[in-house]
Amino acid sequence: MSLVIGIETSCDETAIGIVRDRKLLANVISSSMDEHARFGGVVPEIASRAHLEAFLNVLRQALQDANVKLADVDAIAVTEGPGLIGALLVGVAGATGLASALDKPLYGVNHLSSHIAVDYLTHDEEIEPTIALLVSGGHSSILQVNDITKDVIKLGATMDDAAGEAFDKIARIMNLGFPGGPAIDKEAAHGKINIDFPRGLTTAEDWRTRPYHFSFSGLKTAVARFLEQTPNYVRADVAASFQEAVVDVLLQKSLRACKDSGIDRLVIAGGVAANSRLRQVAGERAMKAGVRLHIPNPGLCTDNGAMVASLGSLMVSGGIAAKGALADSALAF
Ligand code: KG4
Ligand code: ZN
Repeated sequence: MSLVIGIETSCDETAIGIVRDRKLLANVISSSMDEHARFGGVVPEIASRAHLEAFLNVLRQALQDANVKLADVDAIAVTEGPGLIGALLVGVAGATGLASALDKPLYGVNHLSSHIAVDYLTHDEEIEPTIALLVSGGHSSILQVNDITKDVIKLGATMDDAAGEAFDKIARIMNLGFPGGPAIDKEAAHGKINIDFPRGLTTAEDWRTRPYHFSFSGLKTAVARFLEQTPNYVRADVAASFQEAVVDVLLQKSLRACKDSGIDRLVIAGGVAANSRLRQVAGERAMKAGVRLHIPNPGLCTDNGAMVASLGSLMVSGGIAAKGALADSALAF
């Protein structure tokens, strides 16, 4: 049995999770999102400062929620990248201080892998190998996960915007605020899917040469043009139709990766995995395709500390040597 603290500060959430093996004991998140909203995006300097201010309170709260003491902790895990370098450094400095004061091993973890690893907390059965669709504000990738702690193969990724970024940009031009994903999700709930927006990289040639790659910039332009050319557009219908185009292409390509690889498991992770339409259509299509689907609870899809603790715990149980953490924004897949 090992007790692991996970620290996440790669963007605007100062988040600390505590797990005992695969059991989640605490998951505390302090977000500086409100301070960024008026700028229409996360301001790195504001995020770093907010992490500094929130760190100790979040740690204290997490220990209290888990009903454990720092002295009980067996290992510390921290996001070392990718992310905003100044923001990452706050978490890495805090984690390094804790590990050295407690004389416990320190694991630097990859933010993207940890989005997937959080799913391992919610069930006991084996899930590897699995195909993973990782969709966040900065990344949209299809991965083959043979072992989440050391063997993840990138099959494809976005060639321009990430899925979450597309949600954020479209929300901005429709005056729905920031972050755009939850706002579009909500708006789309009372809209009709009645506009046929383009599905990027789905021509016969694309399926042959880059079946697992995404492109959302054409979709973004198509929505912007539609809004310009349609004076009385129904905002909810545009949101629902845009969302459908993203969801459709994400799932077509992920399920194609399952079929091609012969792997009948799919994990969907990252902030966009909180999207209600993605979750619904994924359930329907995975069932039809005979693929076992895992999507973490919406609250565990967006950035949190539980995911870092989960990956750290898997590293401990996998016997991986702790090498410390080095904040590095170039750690992307
Ligand atoms: O994983 P995440 O919390 O942070 C990054 O690692 O980037 O993902 C944030 C992204 C944002 O672009 C946000 O708009 C999007 O996830 N998002 C959503 C939803 N909730 C968050 N996108 C669509 N629907 C949602 N419900
Ligand atoms: Zn993330």
